[in-house]
Amino acid sequence: MRDILPPESGRWRRFTSVFADVVEAAGYAQLIPPLLEDLGVFTRIGDATDVVTKEMYDFVDKGERRVALRPEQTASVCRAFAQHRPAALPWKVFYSGPNFRYEKPQRGRYRQFDQVGIEALGVDDPMLDVEVIALGWEFYQALGLRQVTLLVNSLGEPDDRARYVEALRLHFEAAGEELSEQSRVTLAKNPLRVLDSKRAPDQPFIESAPQIADFYSPEAANHFDAVQAGLRSLDIPFAVESKLVRGLDYYRRTIFEFQGGTLDSAQNALGGGGRYDGLVEALGGPATPGIGFALGVDRTLIACDDEGCFPAEPRQLDAFIVDVVGGLEAVAITAELRSAGMSADRGYDNRSMKAQMKLANRSNAAFAVIVGEQEAADGTVVAKPMNGGDQVTIPRSELIAHLSAARSQDTRSQDTRSQDTRSQDTRSQKYGTHD
Ligand code: HAM
Repeated sequence: MRDILPPESGRWRRFTSVFADVVEAAGYAQLIPPLLEDLGVFTRIGDATDVVTKEMYDFVDKGERRVALRPEQTASVCRAFAQHRPAALPWKVFYSGPNFRYEKPQRGRYRQFDQVGIEALGVDDPMLDVEVIALGWEFYQALGLRQVTLLVNSLGEPDDRARYVEALRLHFEAAGEELSEQSRVTLAKNPLRVLDSKRAPDQPFIESAPQIADFYSPEAANHFDAVQAGLRSLDIPFAVESKLVRGLDYYRRTIFEFQGGTLDSAQNALGGGGRYDGLVEALGGPATPGIGFALGVDRTLIACDDEGCFPAEPRQLDAFIVDVVGGLEAVAITAELRSAGMSADRGYDNRSMKAQMKLANRSNAAFAVIVGEQEAADGTVVAKPMNGGDQVTIPRSELIAHLSAARSQDTRSQDTRSQDTRSQDTRSQKYGTHD
């Protein structure tokens, strides 16, 4: 578990707000589920998954309830759906925030990690699958990421999946001792997950394993065909990966994963999701189809660093007030600027002019506003542009207009510069990620 310090924390906030912009434009509204839920909410994720059996932060609270810190939010969203029974379907929600899994920490894998995600419940239409996948794709584009690969698969209807799992069990059991020891343990719990193994002895058996597509019912095949046709119509590049199974047990039919091209293969899943048509029912609600995804914030930002996009931005200020007098003038000027909507910080402790100018410089302020003895007596201030222009002495009453004029001139010249240099990618222009 880590602290996220400034300026990195500012990038996290922008990340969530760009995500909210993308999904709110498609009708998703924010749901804020609690961090802590009844343990039973999460055991529905499936008892064959490490997330439930090994990684849960669960404990008994003071009221003798068995509770857990959420390891993900899909189960919480389905619990909320079952509890509140929204009338208008699909129920489209998005969320962001921390999750907890007791995993072995390493780069891109933490015990407290953040996700942003969406879930859409109550509609079976494959075009909803297309929308959900497309929104994930669009968000990566908005961040400026280019090396993202989209893999899709279908696990079929529950019956198809069950017959496939049985066929896999027989196939891998026939390999006997030649299968790695870990995979033999996985096989006993969930034969599908053996397909995830990266261990060398397992590879020939994974290669020769039965293919899920051979088990699709006509309904499942039609649904998956429609999803692929929809993605093609939107020009979203994807590959069908028949060995993609994903780590959670609740998936049915469409599943997908976004992989980052610059990350280690063990941690290259930037995000993923799929359909989980039985989950609401398992949580006590009516039979309700659902689909969604969650994207890992930590890993996606590592990918951004690797690709040099969506950088952390240093703090910017309109003004830094250098108070050489130590009186109430600087207090008033700082307050006036802030209430006029400007960002202003100041020096304290009546430190020397030189020390305060150093702070002004470090603060990245556009202007140092100097309040000296003479200025305090005259009702004036010195406005010194920090980018090297000439300083001027002006009446205090003109300070806000002076700084505003400089700010709008600066924005105009930045706009002209960026129009010259930016690509025609309208999304990245909107979010300013492609400088
Ligand atoms: P997940 O694949 O377990 O799916 O997690 C989604 C993403 O969260 C991963 O691709 C990864 O980027 C990030 N993530 C997971 N564990 C960690 C970790 N320990 N440290 C850092 N990042 C991590 C789900 O959570 C499903 N709820 C997704 C979903 C939504 N399916 C349907 N709707």
